[in-house]
Amino acid sequence: MKKLSSAQIRKMFLDFFKSKGHKILPSSSLIPDDPQLLFTVAGMVPFKKIFWGLEKPKYPRVATVQKCLRTNDIENVGKTPRHQTMFEMLGNFSFGDYYKKEAIEYAWEFLTKWLEIPEERLWVSIYEDDDEAYELWTENIGLEPRKIVRMGKEDNFWGPVGPSGPCGPDSEIFYDTMLDVKECPDPDKCDPTCDCDRFLEVWNLVFTGLYQNEKGEIGELERKNIDTGMGLERITAVMQNVESVFETDLFIPFIKKSEKLFGKSYGKNEKNDISMRVIADHSRASAFLIADGVFPSNTERGYVLRRLIRRAVRHGKLLGKDEPFLYKFVDVVNEVMGEFYPEIPEKYDLIKETIKAEEERFFNTLDQGLALIEKIVSSSSTISSEEAFKLYDTYGMPLDITLEIAKEKGVKVEVDGFNALMEEQRKRAREKRGDKAFVGRTYEKLANTKTEFIGYDELKCDAKVVAIISNGESVSELRAGEEGEVVFDKTPFYAEKGGQIGDTGICRWKDGIGKISNTYLNGSLHLHQLKVERGTLEVSMEATLEVDEERRNDTARNHTATHLLHAALRKVLGEHVKQAGSLVSFDRLRFDFTHMKPLTKEEIQKVEDMVNAVILEAVPVTTEIMSLEEAKESGAMALFNEKYSDEVRVVSVGNFSKELCGGTHVKNTGNIGSFVILEEKATSAGVRRIEATSGRNTLKMIREMRTEIETLSKELNTPPNSLVQKVKEVIKENSDLSDRLTRVKEKMLKRMLDETLEKAKKSSQEIVVFDAQDASSAQARNIADMALNSIKNGVVIVIFSPKKDKSSFVVKSSGRVKANEVAKKIASAFGGKGGGRLDMAQGGWNKKVSAKEVDEALKA
Ligand code: SER
Repeated sequence: MKKLSSAQIRKMFLDFFKSKGHKILPSSSLIPDDPQLLFTVAGMVPFKKIFWGLEKPKYPRVATVQKCLRTNDIENVGKTPRHQTMFEMLGNFSFGDYYKKEAIEYAWEFLTKWLEIPEERLWVSIYEDDDEAYELWTENIGLEPRKIVRMGKEDNFWGPVGPSGPCGPDSEIFYDTMLDVKECPDPDKCDPTCDCDRFLEVWNLVFTGLYQNEKGEIGELERKNIDTGMGLERITAVMQNVESVFETDLFIPFIKKSEKLFGKSYGKNEKNDISMRVIADHSRASAFLIADGVFPSNTERGYVLRRLIRRAVRHGKLLGKDEPFLYKFVDVVNEVMGEFYPEIPEKYDLIKETIKAEEERFFNTLDQGLALIEKIVSSSSTISSEEAFKLYDTYGMPLDITLEIAKEKGVKVEVDGFNALMEEQRKRAREKRGDKAFVGRTYEKLANTKTEFIGYDELKCDAKVVAIISNGESVSELRAGEEGEVVFDKTPFYAEKGGQIGDTGICRWKDGIGKISNTYLNGSLHLHQLKVERGTLEVSMEATLEVDEERRNDTARNHTATHLLHAALRKVLGEHVKQAGSLVSFDRLRFDFTHMKPLTKEEIQKVEDMVNAVILEAVPVTTEIMSLEEAKESGAMALFNEKYSDEVRVVSVGNFSKELCGGTHVKNTGNIGSFVILEEKATSAGVRRIEATSGRNTLKMIREMRTEIETLSKELNTPPNSLVQKVKEVIKENSDLSDRLTRVKEKMLKRMLDETLEKAKKSSQEIVVFDAQDASSAQARNIADMALNSIKNGVVIVIFSPKKDKSSFVVKSSGRVKANEVAKKIASAFGGKGGGRLDMAQGGWNKKVSAKEVDEALKA
């Protein structure tokens, strides 16, 4: 058997099915376009409507590598060799095209001929009365009958996903690991029906010929379909000859990162291993969810994300971390999967920041939450529903974590009571909002509303108000002073996407006007954040939309400049430069890219020169719509996933740059005017960031610099061309003065100290209190030493306050009196803290305390 990397397996799978006439489509989002489902749980989900016959297929046969998420077994993740939340599914699909025969033949050919898995290692299961499948396996493939097992509905019937939908009997292919499984109840008769771990299911072929309605009734589909799914992680484990998915090249980099970060070795301690596996799994899932637009929250998808991040944080805590760490794994997600899933490098910053912020929120309360659990379990064998709820509500502890800890400690949790309390809280929140609907549903219900975007060519148009959303609810109007999200049938407003900010502008209608302060997408909903200034905006009204032209033009300049920058970086630094994030705003652009070391001054200048040369040449900027394949063949840089759309937009600047891009651009590079790099720095290991600006902003910047120079020149009374020399002189002068001042102060302090000591000796005082003013603590200790040397026997207290509103002190004693006791006493006399050794102690107060006050307090 060949040893293959996961990347090779992905590619071979797609190549194989391409050679069998399949259209290869990119992975769809983890968030399905399906109100019945929270997540894409299988490769077939994006095609559910096609299977069902509700939508026409564009291609009769398709193959994908689909990112999927399942959270039903989340508590097992990390504890077994195979449980995961996020995984990749290799799938081939037929929509009324081929059926059982080809599905079985293709799977067999791929496994035995392409992956070269020995036939004797493969077994199959079929649905109990599927004789057709039995015949195909025995007669067409020639599989020995003893290697075919029949199983019931539990095992060999798939779907529907959600309450209704397509489904059907299936046939699963198993890989015989030939491992001696200790727990196997009957090793001689072991086959795929056995519960032991010897047989690993690798591929599920579903013969999707049926559907189930919401009542549970099953009917025949008009078209017979094929849906297959093979977990990439499992087949990779087989091909890499390892027992657990966590030992494949998909996960090892995560485990390595954990070893480094937590200073622990994998494979030494089962508990640590579990935590490392949980972190590996959850960091991948969290990154992909955020890339697909989910944010941590307390409802639905957002809560799943929150639970994933918080569960991972708890496991990091078990491994000894007390501060955010999970965000550091985003680098690993990017390294392992960024190439195949461009949304990861594209949303890199957002993912990192979102995870880090959520970690910080949870770390703030985690210790208190854990302490409360400890307290509860030390005196009780049950965590009550109220306690579990308090942990959730006050300390942000998701129920899974409470359950997991409870299980470890051997105590129970009153889950039903907890759920009842949760429901009550939800009810209260709904009542407070004054209605019974769920907020999330509002957007879901509007999900099919389409807005035509005409903003590539026009900045103004007439449009109809299709929907208005206020505080998450659909409303029929917005009155003067009110703000909401408005959907139009048509718009010139660009919605934030691909790093480019959303447009702003004005909306006018009969007797009314409103300001649009942002435009963005929620799923495919094109939302305008609009505040009514006069009149009332109602659903179905006609309105005129007008984009703020200057701001849009500034943004377009920065966007085209970003493409030029990207191309110039690749030409100057090399082809390894890849976009890792981008922000295109009206006043500046920010571009993150992969590169190992800081740019030299020469490199920065070269890049800047190259971009400006293209600007000065005034090269036309052209856009073309073409198929994804054509675009790739033409050498266009593909930066984001045009999900399932076959047509992509390609923006070209002569032969200098060619990128897939949905953003708005200038018509000619001459329109950019000028381009300057403002800053170059690191953002994370291997990723650099450039901030730059163009057009009118460079002029604005030069003006600001000119004003600053003029001000400096006036203040320093020096012509601009000798400013540098003058500043050097001033700095030198300043440092000389400061040295002199220090010496004078030291002299003065010394004299005052001498006087104080003189007096002390004369009156054979045993305690000397000296005010060293703004001396540093090192100086204060020095003074205390000198003083003690001089009086020989007794105690010296030196007060000093280098900071305003604070005083500190040093106590030194020659022996009889304990310095630490003196320190404690004088500290507490004025509400401070102090302590130390018998001969030396220190302390301080959060206010000014003078030597005189201390002296008097001592006397008293
Ligand atoms: N839908 C089936 C599964 O998830 C086959 O792709 O197993």
